[in-house]
Amino acid sequence: MKFQSLRGMQDIFQSDSKKWHQLRQAYQLVLNRYGIGEVQNPILENLNLFVRTVGDSSDIVNKELYSFQDRNGDFIALRPEGTAGFIRSIIEKKIEHESHKAYYAGPMFRYERPQKGRFRQFHQLGVEYVGFPEGDADLEIISIVADLLEELGISQKAVIHINHLGSSEVKQQYCNVLKEFLMDYKDSLSEIDQKRLESNPLRVLDSKDESAQDILALQEVPRYEEFLTEEHLQLLNDINDTFQERVDISIDHKLVRGLDYYTGLVFEVLSNELGAQDSFIGGGRYDNLILELGGKEQSAIGFAVGLDRLLTLFEPSNEDRKKIIFINLAGSNRHHAYKIASNIRALSKKVSVESILTDASLKSQLRKANKLGGDFALIIGDDEITSGNFIWKDLNEGTQEFVTLEQLTGKITHL
Ligand code: HAM
Repeated sequence: MKFQSLRGMQDIFQSDSKKWHQLRQAYQLVLNRYGIGEVQNPILENLNLFVRTVGDSSDIVNKELYSFQDRNGDFIALRPEGTAGFIRSIIEKKIEHESHKAYYAGPMFRYERPQKGRFRQFHQLGVEYVGFPEGDADLEIISIVADLLEELGISQKAVIHINHLGSSEVKQQYCNVLKEFLMDYKDSLSEIDQKRLESNPLRVLDSKDESAQDILALQEVPRYEEFLTEEHLQLLNDINDTFQERVDISIDHKLVRGLDYYTGLVFEVLSNELGAQDSFIGGGRYDNLILELGGKEQSAIGFAVGLDRLLTLFEPSNEDRKKIIFINLAGSNRHHAYKIASNIRALSKKVSVESILTDASLKSQLRKANKLGGDFALIIGDDEITSGNFIWKDLNEGTQEFVTLEQLTGKITHL
């Protein structure tokens, strides 16, 4: 029997890993600028944690959780997102009343129908600010997002949509009014939207179904903005004004997000280069969640970047590191040759020295060196060790010369 990876799960190989590595370096640079520190929470959590946080009306809890009973009979789930686990951890440590600026990165799991940009195991970078009430923190969160887009060179490909969901009372009020309105059109809605109308009418607002869109285009649809206070609308305008010179940003009162815990600011970053799964960052304020999970009343806001989607937008800069392939042809002196290779590896940050690690013929090792994309080959045999002259081959030019250790050191430090 041949094994295959599970549907929607990908193997990431070396060539892609390089891109991932640059992506990580870029986001860490930005996060350091804001003094945000890393947290690592477990991948498995109690199933109920997600039911209580993400919400039992959300798609995630309804049909996308990977859950199972462990050997003790406890109900466990693979995390579909990182906010719930992080909040659980600070309540458990009894530090939720302190302020936190934290980030996490790692795999998340949702049993969705796989398609371009949608996987069952995907990766998120999440940022959570705890203990900062509405105001400056909301501006700072959008500022981090704008910096990330700039650092990754993708500001031109992205648009940020922002909305305000009001307090939980306002959200509930609007939800009721919208439901009442949509009930008159229930029969024209798709089966999925009819279900949403019952469980969470707000979700009908971001339905992609045509009949829902037609109904929502009607003049008399109750509008979210009419339920918001002056301060809420002001915050949206302030954010819009602050960032519009740096990135394409706009207020979208139909933006509601798919997780239940949000109140206050919500936002998504989209790109039309991503196809159907066009949203690659999502977040917002969740001031009630900590209290609901049994912690102290505490404000919180955050976002998560879908790194797999981001990776398709991001073009890494050409690595200027030169690749030297070390070919060891020495017999009894192998370890001497190896020592020379080890020493030159440490000479410069701009080179990598890769060993072939076989005793195949020179011809076949040179073939391999070209296949590996080497710039130079360093060839050391017994004769070279005795004479102190090593072979330095320029693989792009096809030329070669003998060099002493001193000359070799000079060449490498000047690459
Ligand atoms: P979310 O919108 O559910 O928010 O997910 C954030 C991002 O994860 C999405 O914008 C998307 O790029 C990526 N994503 C989600 N599902 C998939 C998938 N199946 N395949 C590939 N990428 C995917 C959250 O998870 C919240 N915890 C964000 C947050 C943090 N809010 C406050 N703090």
